[in-house]
Amino acid sequence: MTHNEKFQLNDGSSLPKIGLGTVNIQGAIGVNSMLTAVEENGYRLIDTSTNYHNEGAVGEAIRRSTIPREQLIISSKLPGAAHDYDKAISMIQESLYRIGIDYFDKYLIHWPLPMQGKYVEAWRALIDAQKFGLIKTIGVSNFLAEHLERIIEETGVTPATNQIERHPYFNNKELVETNKKYGIVTEAWSPFGREINDVLENETIKEIGEKYGKSPAQVIMRWNLQNDVLIIPKSSSAERQKENLEVYDFELTDEDLEAIDSLDKGEPGRVEDQHPNEYEEYV
Ligand SMILES: NC(=O)c1ccc[n+]([C@@H]2O[C@H](COP(=O)([O-])OP(=O)(O)OC[C@H]3O[C@@H](n4cnc5c(N)ncnc54)[C@H](OP(=O)(O)O)[C@@H]3O)[C@@H](O)[C@H]2O)c1
Repeated sequence: MTHNEKFQLNDGSSLPKIGLGTVNIQGAIGVNSMLTAVEENGYRLIDTSTNYHNEGAVGEAIRRSTIPREQLIISSKLPGAAHDYDKAISMIQESLYRIGIDYFDKYLIHWPLPMQGKYVEAWRALIDAQKFGLIKTIGVSNFLAEHLERIIEETGVTPATNQIERHPYFNNKELVETNKKYGIVTEAWSPFGREINDVLENETIKEIGEKYGKSPAQVIMRWNLQNDVLIIPKSSSAERQKENLEVYDFELTDEDLEAIDSLDKGEPGRVEDQHPNEYEEYV
């Protein structure tokens, strides 16, 4: 097993199992971090969003990189203020101009915002943007079962991925299962609890890591891989970026996996109380 392993998607394409999260990776320092991730550490998937205010830095890193564009997987997300069909199409184009590329490898609806009631319309825009050649793989983020059911029923098109909050204190197991049921690959955001919670200090996870000579972060990476979940840890440090990829030389036992699953705290375990039916993101 190597970090070149891929997930096969329901639209016929594939994605690396590990990507780079980029929240707070911005500006000149951010460009250098992303270049290190790509050039030195071998990351190919970069997860950005209009809301991360770093699409410019992503574009600069792509331009400075020696890795051919077609080997990079660039993924961004539609903000809540652009769920109207026309706004969504323009937003996707604007986002591409900002990055300086002519297609996205993957593009997601960032939040469903059911109180706004336009996520089906936004999904139709992504379906068409894919047909126009602006996006290769379309997916969603923070969609619950009812949102998935609705877009699939109303458009006949199933998302390829659903990027959701998932870390040991909020493992979102039911939604991971729902995604599986629809053939949707789950992507885990904030896999290390964004350093808001103390999951990287958790004794159970530390003890499991000690058995294999691995760090808590590496144990969490493995727990996701063995649950068929794509992971996008954010790190601006070259060493930690590397550490987060060195997870193919050990395997957790069923007992280890169950011990990590048992750390789940349910709803109170969310890092910032961002329930997809309540969280408002209209940027
Ligand atoms: N779709 C959504 O709604 C959504 C929401 C949140 C996040 N995301 C995506 O998911 C990505 C990851 O989530 P996140 O950024 O919230 O948090 P995260 O990946 O859980 O945690 C990032 C934090 O962990 C530290 N870290 C990384 N590797 C480490 C290691 N091996 N050992 C110790 N500390 C380590 C980082 O510090 P250093 O940088 O100093 O290493 C950073 O402070 C985001 O960047 C974003 O791309 C998506």
